[in-house]
Amino acid sequence: RDSQEQRLIALHEEAQELYHHILMNTQSGEAALDYLLARGLTKDILETFKIGFAPKERVILQQIFKNRNVSDDDLSQSGLMIQTDSGKWLDRFYQRIMFPIRNQRGKVIGFSGRILADETFDDSGLPKYLNSPETKLFNKRVVLFNFDKARGDIRKKNEVILFEGFMDVISAWKSGVQNGVASMGTSLTKEQIAALERTTDNAVICYDGDSAGIEATVRAIELLSQQSEMQLTVVRLPNQMDPDDYRVKYGEDALKQFIRNNRDTVFVFKKEYLMRGKNMSLEADRLEYIDQLLLELAEIPSIVEQDMYATQIAEEFDLSKDTILLELQKKKRAKF
Ligand code: CTP
Ligand code: MN
Ligand code: MN
Ligand code: MN
Ligand code: MN
Repeated sequence: RDSQEQRLIALHEEAQELYHHILMNTQSGEAALDYLLARGLTKDILETFKIGFAPKERVILQQIFKNRNVSDDDLSQSGLMIQTDSGKWLDRFYQRIMFPIRNQRGKVIGFSGRILADETFDDSGLPKYLNSPETKLFNKRVVLFNFDKARGDIRKKNEVILFEGFMDVISAWKSGVQNGVASMGTSLTKEQIAALERTTDNAVICYDGDSAGIEATVRAIELLSQQSEMQLTVVRLPNQMDPDDYRVKYGEDALKQFIRNNRDTVFVFKKEYLMRGKNMSLEADRLEYIDQLLLELAEIPSIVEQDMYATQIAEEFDLSKDTILLELQKKKRAKF
């Protein structure tokens, strides 16, 4: 007899096939397929990621699983179904484009569903993305979207690219950047960071170019630098775009080149970040900025790098380099 874990994986694999079939081959998946193709995905890429569609009626899994006499306990533990107060089972996911989430061995352990709004369906009040609940299989803290497929390329390039969204990972993959992963809409956890660090020495943060993405970048830098020894760089997308928007607008080659050629060091990223909302012609803002910058500088382990940036800051603000270095020493001492 299979363990419950094996049975739950089997339910997920079955659900994946079903959702995928509905998207690719049926009338009820047609609007979703049109939507995805209009966003520049191809049938090939939908196949690679086994993307699917869960129709709005909420009975697809219910019919299949009930016919097979799957136990109520398995149904409920799978997270794929929910039971109403009257005891009726309903599919959890409906009217959503389904992204299968796989564990490191490539087995489907959960889904994230993106709402599909159309003339027949009002999505107001519903979240854009809905994830599987925490189950025996699915632990949001541990899983990274696409880590199973990306791991070979992450090792080969000795580098992982961190994206915010599933669509960004998929878009990058289609553009030939196949070392990308995403967390499940949350900050990186220590488990995820540890798994990445076991695989590579270098992490590239490539989050959305909007203010939420920029704040998430700051947070990711903090977590990664506190919890790992990986070398960090940042790719900042222009004009509020996310990587997928960039591909749609400029094409796959352009996205690939952009990710390859626009790497900032953490310090350069922070330099621009700390500038936001400040008026450099005001003395108070300027002083605050220099102070914040030197705090960041004090975090850089390499003395050579520190010295280089100290020169830059001195020139930029017309201060003596000795002053900058003195203040830097003060900040470094204050850290201990
Ligand atoms: N997310 C989530 N719940 C939401 C919104 C977002 O879990 N209600 C997570 C998802 O993992 C999503 C990521 O945060 O992929 C990034 O969100 P967002 O930038 O809003 O979505 P996109 O990936 O850009 O999706 P799309 O392009 O389809 O709008
Ligand atoms: Mn198929
Ligand atoms: Mn975003
Ligand atoms: Mn986005
Ligand atoms: Mn997007």
